[in-house]
Amino acid sequence: MRIGVLTAGGDAPGLNAAIRALGRRALAASDELIGVRNGFAGLDGDADLEPLSRTELSGILPVGGTILGTGRHNLDHPHGGRERVATAINEQFDALVIVGGDGSMTVAADLASRGCPVVGVPKTLDNDLAVTEYCIGFDSAVSVVADALDRLHTTAASHHRVMVLETMGRRTGWVAATGGLAGGADYLVIPEFPVTLDAVMDHIERRKSRGSSFSLVVIAEGVDVTPWGLDALAGPGHALAAAVHDHTGYEVRATVLGHLQRGGSPTAFDRVWATRVGAAAYDLVAQGCFGFASGVRDGRLTPIAMSDLIATTPFVPRELYELCATFF
Ligand code: F6P
Repeated sequence: MRIGVLTAGGDAPGLNAAIRALGRRALAASDELIGVRNGFAGLDGDADLEPLSRTELSGILPVGGTILGTGRHNLDHPHGGRERVATAINEQFDALVIVGGDGSMTVAADLASRGCPVVGVPKTLDNDLAVTEYCIGFDSAVSVVADALDRLHTTAASHHRVMVLETMGRRTGWVAATGGLAGGADYLVIPEFPVTLDAVMDHIERRKSRGSSFSLVVIAEGVDVTPWGLDALAGPGHALAAAVHDHTGYEVRATVLGHLQRGGSPTAFDRVWATRVGAAAYDLVAQGCFGFASGVRDGRLTPIAMSDLIATTPFVPRELYELCATFF
């Protein structure tokens, strides 16, 4: 078989581990593995392809980013991007493995409905794909948040400051809540459980009155600060920090973690997980399970229909938020 692989959307630590595992399985079965460069852009126009042998797959397990390149290529242009890509897939490959998040899986599901032989691998540090309990990159992002909180802790305590940390996560609070739990956040603001600005201030004051001279507040990038009367342009982290300073007079500093959460070497968990789902994607290809992705359900690797991955958005459940709130 001639199997293609592409990575699409934002990069995430663990992509290379998935490509390596898929490739090693494919090469062991004497299949051909072809990398598509720069996501769907590599199939929309002249095909931008690269044969992958053991040489290209060697040494990439701990390497962040993606050896194939990626991007958020818009296929909904007037020249019929999706049709062109569908034609390219059918001409070039017996199967194409698409490693991606919400946007990429939406395109992948559409390609599958057009009869293309596509298989998915769920990847997004936001961890906001439905059904699957885990996506490549989430653990690495959470580790960065936990490490940042550990570092902010000591400087906050030394200066008796309020530290506001803004995390990624798009419209959900998974990275903020899980990272906050791992790093001992003193307060958490996520889109799923809106709070008033007064509640944030009251909490900081309460900590002060209990004898805590500093506070670590984690806020997710998806939080809408306009109901607080704040300027959304500054970003929620900076907006909240300015408001806390204005209301309390305390020294406040904001840190926006941004793409630090996406870069660098994957954690051991992400390496192992990406290896498992990358290898499982090969099995789906071998079985002709097109339109499915290799995910996890009830703790077990399982094929999940791509259309199910994108059908709903999994939000942080009350139980996890309340666990975080235990430590407020
Ligand atoms: O979806 C992953 C993600 O990192 C989001 O958390 C974030 O909102 C977005 O991508 C940033 O995208 P870009 O790299 O295009 O700025």
